[in-house]
Amino acid sequence: KVIVLDYGSQYNQLITRRLRDIGVYSELHSNRLTAHELKELNPSGIILSGGPGSVYDSNATQVDEAIFELDIPILGICYGMQLMAHQLGGTVEKASNREYGKASIEVNVSSKLFEGLPDQQTVWMSHGDLVTEVPRGFEVNAINESCPIASFSHESKSFYGVQFHPEVNHTEHGNDILKHFVFDVCGCQGEWTMDHVVEMQIEKIREEVQDRHVLCALSGGVDSSVVAVLLHKAIGDQLTCIFVDHGLLRKNEADDVMKMFEEGFHINVIKVDAQDRFLDKLSGVSDPEKKRKIIGNEFIEVFDEQADQLTDIDYLAQGTLYTDIIESGTETAQTIKSHHNVGGLPEHMNLELIEPLKALFKDEVRRLGEELGVPEHIVWRQPFPGPGLGIRVLGEITQEKLEIVRESDAILREEIKINDLERDVWQYFTALPGVQSVGVQGDERSYNHTVAIRAVTSVDGMTSDWARLPWEVLEKISNRITNEVSHVNRVVYDITSKPPATIEWE
Ligand code: XMP
Repeated sequence: KVIVLDYGSQYNQLITRRLRDIGVYSELHSNRLTAHELKELNPSGIILSGGPGSVYDSNATQVDEAIFELDIPILGICYGMQLMAHQLGGTVEKASNREYGKASIEVNVSSKLFEGLPDQQTVWMSHGDLVTEVPRGFEVNAINESCPIASFSHESKSFYGVQFHPEVNHTEHGNDILKHFVFDVCGCQGEWTMDHVVEMQIEKIREEVQDRHVLCALSGGVDSSVVAVLLHKAIGDQLTCIFVDHGLLRKNEADDVMKMFEEGFHINVIKVDAQDRFLDKLSGVSDPEKKRKIIGNEFIEVFDEQADQLTDIDYLAQGTLYTDIIESGTETAQTIKSHHNVGGLPEHMNLELIEPLKALFKDEVRRLGEELGVPEHIVWRQPFPGPGLGIRVLGEITQEKLEIVRESDAILREEIKINDLERDVWQYFTALPGVQSVGVQGDERSYNHTVAIRAVTSVDGMTSDWARLPWEVLEKISNRITNEVSHVNRVVYDITSKPPATIEWE
């Protein structure tokens, strides 16, 4: 693997992604990692990322100088290159002009980094400082008009620096340069492919679990589904899943999930019908936060009761992802939230955790799911909140209101699918604001519910924009909802972004 040390560049997570995409496992870590800690991680190579700072800032972040003695290849990108120069005895100066954007470099010395690539290349620059003098033993590999040392190296020590950003698409041969570094310099094998990841994970799980038993809370979402299928592949019937139907699921959801796991994969699933319990507890409650808390607590209670009845469980499996563990930003490695998904799961259970997805990004989990044969409609599922339809029926929850949301949501999903919009829209659902209004249906006055359609585009759910669904599609959905769903006479489309709104209505 290759370790990327984070100096705060907006592109640092992208470096990790690029390496993984070319088949080399890579992790982003805090720049505070010491040489000793780095050595323990046993990487084949180290990349010092770019960053907004200057090596001359009073609070400039540095790298533990002992890493230059580890005999591990190092690539410095932008600030990372300047840091190398600065700490190894070269000179870094303020550029007369900040350089930002496309630039052309000329490669003038043969270096492993540029082997077989054209002499003239377009690259992406984004820097205020530049290296003006290389450290002793280093050579200049590439020059550029405004940046005379665009790349340097110490070939026998396997130290490289580039002032431009090879991880950015605009750098014409960026991928080739990264490949040269990880394959030719670091000697990586390019084994990080999904079929290999599956094999590695299965082996690891078998080794760890041996003949003991694992429990997995199954929600039917992408992550828990992939975890369940992966574990089942590794340890078969030593896996037991618990699926809680809290009565706040979408139309046919409980049956679909059970069918897939029991019939499709022959996985042991205990389905708990807890609808009445949840609805009883929620009865008369209209405050959104109270509703969320009740649903969360009840879930834990149900899960706890079920788990207590199982005697020989040793592990709890969770769908924690890489992004849950290593946050991009300055404090990377320190901000470990390994219990992220446990939320409030009972502590007294004393189970050891298994988190087989914790090295993966969401889209890698999807690819892993595909590799494992998890059906497409699960792998590409839109996010669905834990409290389910409970936070889409605004205010007090009743069976009748749940039914309206369930039916209208089914129509919306069907039309999105028919019109092939599933991959364009990040999340889409209906909500029941609890507004009644006057309408005319079948020549008669009606006083019925309003259904709101919410469809958003987003990358990570942190911010979002309302999806520009085609009008004809919206028209069809609106017609179908008012015709097919009882007690509805009006449909509105939510055209608010996040912020100021949130994606869900509660
Ligand atoms: P908001 O409404 O905060 O939602 O803009 C952002 C994303 O998170 C989902 N969401 C939840 N997911 N448990 C979850 O697992 C929850 O309690 C929860 N609340 C919101 C929401 O569907 C959206 O994708």
